[in-house]
Amino acid sequence: MKKLLILGAGIYQVPLIKAAKQLGIYTIVASIQGNYPGFEIADKVYYENTTDYRKILSIARREEVDGIVTAGTDVAVITIGKVCDALGLRGLSFEAAEVATDKLLMKQCYEKHGVRSAKFRRVNFSDENYANIISDLALPVMFKSVDSSGSRGIVKVRTESEFERARNNVLENTRSDYFIVEECIEGEEFGAQAFVQDGKLEFILPHGDYVFKGDTGVPVGHFAPYDLDPEIIKDCKEQLIAATRAMQLNNCAINADFILRDGQTYVLEIGGRSGATCLAELVSIYYGFDYYEKIIRVAIGEKVDFSSCNETDETQSGTPNASMLLMSDKDGVIKSQEDRNAATPDLCEVQFDYEVGDPVHAFKVGPHRIGHVITKGKSLDEAVELLHEALDNIHIEVE
Ligand SMILES: Nc1ncnc2c1ncn2[C@@H]1O[C@H](COP(=O)(O)OP(=O)(O)O)[C@@H](O)[C@H]1O
Ligand SMILES: [Mg+2]
Repeated sequence: MKKLLILGAGIYQVPLIKAAKQLGIYTIVASIQGNYPGFEIADKVYYENTTDYRKILSIARREEVDGIVTAGTDVAVITIGKVCDALGLRGLSFEAAEVATDKLLMKQCYEKHGVRSAKFRRVNFSDENYANIISDLALPVMFKSVDSSGSRGIVKVRTESEFERARNNVLENTRSDYFIVEECIEGEEFGAQAFVQDGKLEFILPHGDYVFKGDTGVPVGHFAPYDLDPEIIKDCKEQLIAATRAMQLNNCAINADFILRDGQTYVLEIGGRSGATCLAELVSIYYGFDYYEKIIRVAIGEKVDFSSCNETDETQSGTPNASMLLMSDKDGVIKSQEDRNAATPDLCEVQFDYEVGDPVHAFKVGPHRIGHVITKGKSLDEAVELLHEALDNIHIEVE
């Protein structure tokens, strides 16, 4: 029996654990303790911090695992790189993982290799005169923590008077003693899921993003296909290929964030794992396979066939689908939650993350989600219409 070490036991790892079990793989989950749904379904659990490389490596060694993988989070990616390198497992390298999980290294990598990305500066927290360093950046700018995710420590700044507040927000959300400031690209945010196997990009699937405007944009839903001009799709794919090569990502899923301005794709950031907020599901529905299964098979060393994706997908012939997170507009406790939707094949999934009585937050960042809805249709319009209908039929009371 093959053994798979899955890092994280949260909402975004649950489908991975389930898919592995369905493949008859023995699932070992490592995560810090907490109210995480993955613990119940895993075959074996280690309560360890997934960023603690030594502990995770010793587990991987002791268990003689065939692969190590995660989904939907950047937190554990660095450990995956280290373990893959140390044990010769299939997955991204430590070097690639480092670049993929540090926004400064990533920006430097893009700059060096000519990947289109916002102009940026590195700023030390200790530097009192940092305004000088960033004075040649055009406002608005983004103040960014280099090592966080889920829009934490990412602040849009419109005037100099906001610098201090933004800097303090970043400081609260980082373990690093520096951060980056980059020019704001005012445009339409979108993304792509992709997979690189043995150096080959097996598919690139651009998708539209629904963005919640808080302190910064927070992706709260997605849809595919994304109806872009073929020239723009070509440009986006070129940027993604260039970025993937520059970052030396290999044998991993890719989660790319872009902003489109004046017909040009700017790379915001690229992660070496599948996307959160229903993005792995978007891939599965679009191509008609279980994406989690493919991710797992690659991780345990199989050569996986992606030929059904039709690499270029110029006709965008996949199944249209759309998703949206469920959110609360206030802090409180869930008093009731009800899904009044009738079951139909195109309503792919309604998920509640919590139970009545559980505390929830007013939505500001991705981890404040309280559930999600995924729909599909013959056309994207159909899928989106059903998504809105379905959302209207979900009633969650928070008090
Ligand atoms: N240079 C930028 N221009 C415009 N918006 C940006 C820029 N950088 C970040 N954002 C907004 O902030 C969000 C989070 O930034 P990102 O760098 O992707 O961090 P995270 O790792 O938290 O997702 C993006 O999804 C986007 O909405
Ligand atoms: Mg992002």
